Amino acid sequence: MLGNFSYCNPTKLYFGEDSLDNLNIELPKYGKNVILIYGGGSIKKNGIYDEVVEILKKNGKNVAEISGVMPNPTVDKLYEGIETARNHNADFLLAVGGGSVCDYAKAVSVSVNCKEDPWEKYYIRFEEPDCETLPVGCVLTMVGTGSEMNAGSVITNHKTKQKIGHVFADENIMPKFAVLNPKYTLTLPHYQMVSGIYDIFNHICEQYFSGEDDNTSDYISEGLMRSVIYSSRIANKDPQNYEARSNIMWTATWALNTLVSRGKSTDWMVHMLGQSVGAYTDATHGMTLAAVSLPYYRHILPYGLQKFKRFAVNVWDVDPSGKTDEQVAEEGLQAMENWMNELGLVMNISQLGATEDMIEGIADGTLIMPGGYKVLEHDEIVEILKESLR
Ligand code: NZQ
Ligand code: ZN
Repeated sequence: MLGNFSYCNPTKLYFGEDSLDNLNIELPKYGKNVILIYGGGSIKKNGIYDEVVEILKKNGKNVAEISGVMPNPTVDKLYEGIETARNHNADFLLAVGGGSVCDYAKAVSVSVNCKEDPWEKYYIRFEEPDCETLPVGCVLTMVGTGSEMNAGSVITNHKTKQKIGHVFADENIMPKFAVLNPKYTLTLPHYQMVSGIYDIFNHICEQYFSGEDDNTSDYISEGLMRSVIYSSRIANKDPQNYEARSNIMWTATWALNTLVSRGKSTDWMVHMLGQSVGAYTDATHGMTLAAVSLPYYRHILPYGLQKFKRFAVNVWDVDPSGKTDEQVAEEGLQAMENWMNELGLVMNISQLGATEDMIEGIADGTLIMPGGYKVLEHDEIVEILKESLR
């Protein structure tokens, strides 16, 4: 049964080839002191930086920069950004980049006026901000996380070997607006493109593989999965295909803007496993998910058999006639595995730098979520991770 819920998503989206022009509409709404936040330099190479700086200048903004936000942004980088934002008396944070840059901007937003240690408060104790936060805007250049339209922020602490995401309950933490220009994603390396595609797909799986009720969200999810599979095959062969890339960008936003989780239970164990792998290896997010997914799904398949059967039939067009439920369900996972191999995803954690001696630590760092078909015991996590090494 559809549970009770509230739904509000205040992020305004501007989608399409000319969408950056809308910065001229959005920027005047915020104060003069802007922090431009970006990553390791891709936006300088592809010209997005120059375009954004020109619009900021035109709007008379007093701009300071936080550059070098790394993939899987760290807590040390967060402390640095808080100082910059405080020194600049920031009114507005403009993130130009992928999920890492956008997540990071949200982390700075909730930390600038926070008197406590933000790592402890937000990422260990999962508290909500009780201080003034800064508005965030996002110009997205990498597709996958959905960070452009959600309140999630993932930060890595290398000292404690923890990678932790906080999905803030307060919708004020979501970007005020996001600029989604599919053309900006055309310069992504193939590795990042397919990693993002798998991230999208897995976000949908995490919300789909939970619960036995009849739920509208699951039908929406099946449509989104079919769309991303279809477009990914085109983009994999022809990365410059605007139609496929724009559909992938739009699917990414819907996959994790909280719509398809309303009124239903969700899983998120693949992300918990992947994040702990990421804490040890600093590997690309989507690849950590790809590498643990099949061992995890094959492990929980007997507990969620009917949903895996439905997944096989409705998402992968497996013909169920004359087959047992188990056969149909396994054929669905096999079709998924074939697709993952076709995209060239990393299919085991050893290729991401994980080794046997890390397994216990990765398992200890894996948060156990209660919403999936089987609440995992520690030993089962170890077993899944060992299976993922191969
Ligand atoms: O740093 P630069 O030089 O910009 O290069 C980036 C980076 O190396 C590059 N890139 C981005 N746009 C590009 C480009 N290269 C060429 N052309 C472009 N247009 O791509 C690399 C990866 O970028 P990153 O932002 O790290 O990728 P992604 O968007 O996958 O973000 C990953 C982070 O988001 C978190 C992940 O855990 C990870 O820390 N997540 C956030 C979520 C959320 N907010 O809800 C949910 C996700 O499940 C995820 O956990
Ligand atoms: Zn993800």
